[in-house]
Amino acid sequence: MQEYKNVTIFDHPLIRHKIAILRDEKTTTKQFRELVEEITTLMTYESLKDVPTKKIIVKTPLEETEQSVVVDNAVTIVPILRAGLGMVNGVHQLFPTARVGHIGMYRDEETLEPKEYYCKLPEGIQDSIAVVLDPMLATGGSAIAAIDYLKKVGCKRIKQMSIIAAPEGIKALAEAHPDVEIYVSTLDRELNENGYILPGLGDAGDRLFGTK
Ligand code: PRP
Ligand code: URA
Repeated sequence: MQEYKNVTIFDHPLIRHKIAILRDEKTTTKQFRELVEEITTLMTYESLKDVPTKKIIVKTPLEETEQSVVVDNAVTIVPILRAGLGMVNGVHQLFPTARVGHIGMYRDEETLEPKEYYCKLPEGIQDSIAVVLDPMLATGGSAIAAIDYLKKVGCKRIKQMSIIAAPEGIKALAEAHPDVEIYVSTLDRELNENGYILPGLGDAGDRLFGTK
């Protein structure tokens, strides 16, 4: 696959280990949910390493010291419904104050085009880093549409976090939104004729919520 400047693909043995279990068709809904959350926490650590900070004075039992803390409202996470919801707690483990906006999107099964059905974003999202969460980046259509929307409402700094990506999805997203930083845990081989990632893990929403 062509290299893109703003794409980071994690290649970490702990993440690879968890993804191996995540893919397994025998993995239960409960395990699946826990793994998505754990992988997201590991990804958050690296994806938000440039989060803005400010200096504060802290008084220890011995003296005053200048320390750095994350600024208020630095990050808004935006899960794409449904499957992105599975990643929210994973970010909150490390970043409990991150506010949450929701974008509801499903893929038309015939055309694979994303259809938006819900959107609720926190006030002031434009002043924070918006982090789009979706475990699967397949054709890239859902992520591109969500980011189009965020830009339309004025978001200037946007990141995308996905657990599994297809080369087709990375290419489409990186070319549609070259300014967006894309963080992916693993890059899979290809899409099948139905737009599913191979080897993938199947339908992330169904596996998270037990709908099939
Ligand atoms: C899945 C997934 C992504 C999208 C990725 O959602 O959670 O949102 O597909 O595919 P794309 O990159 O080709 O757009 P789905 O449409 O199945 O909706 P659901 O989460 O409600 O099941
Ligand atoms: N959405 C999923 O949930 N899985 C895929 O493989 C592709 C899109």
